Amino acid sequence: MNNPIVILGIVGSLRRDSFNRMALKAAQQLAPEGSRLDVADIDGLPGFNQDDESGPPAKVTELKQQIRNADAILFVTPEYNYSVPGVLKNAIDWASRPYGDSAWTGKSVAVMGASVGMMGTARAQYHLRQMFVFLNMHAVNQPEVMISNAAKRFDDQGNLTDETSRKLIQQLLQELVRWTKLLQSQ
Ligand SMILES: Cc1cc2nc3c(=O)[nH]c(=O)nc-3n(C[C@H](O)[C@H](O)[C@H](O)COP(=O)(O)O)c2cc1C
Repeated sequence: MNNPIVILGIVGSLRRDSFNRMALKAAQQLAPEGSRLDVADIDGLPGFNQDDESGPPAKVTELKQQIRNADAILFVTPEYNYSVPGVLKNAIDWASRPYGDSAWTGKSVAVMGASVGMMGTARAQYHLRQMFVFLNMHAVNQPEVMISNAAKRFDDQGNLTDETSRKLIQQLLQELVRWTKLLQSQ
């Protein structure tokens, strides 16, 4: 049997009852056959300091290794003040350094997010997509998974109950796996 496509999920919220963490849990259940969705832990990373980029904290080294071991990345993020939460940007910055040793280079990537607002993290997602240009990551364009009014779309146990969102997540992961295999075959 072929090795599974390993997707590394990274959540842009540290909140205990995070809707985005719940959405990632749903994605784990919806990952296509022949793939596996692991989760990175970005809690506890110190604020990025370029003085330390050549001898980073152990947590950064671990994160970079996890990214390198993965075939693809899935960012699941809230929107903070119309952009990417600082904790996520901080993790992205750490793993991109030092220059020439970025762990992100060439990875296929997909984005999704949940927000209590109407825009479902659209603005944060487009800021992430802008970063992918410099990081040289290859993004899945569609479907776009923007879960708006998040408080209405999960039950008390943290299950994603909104069928449309579940279907979109499933399609996104299928597309991510297809895209990853296509890139790896080149
Ligand atoms: C600092 C901060 C900024 C926020 N800015 C936005 C925003 O720009 N757009 C939006 O839709 N929601 C915004 N929110 C509300 C989030 O959508 C909401 O807190 C959401 O539950 C965060 O995701 P989580 O549940 O995964 O932690 C903001 C929340 C915080 C704490």
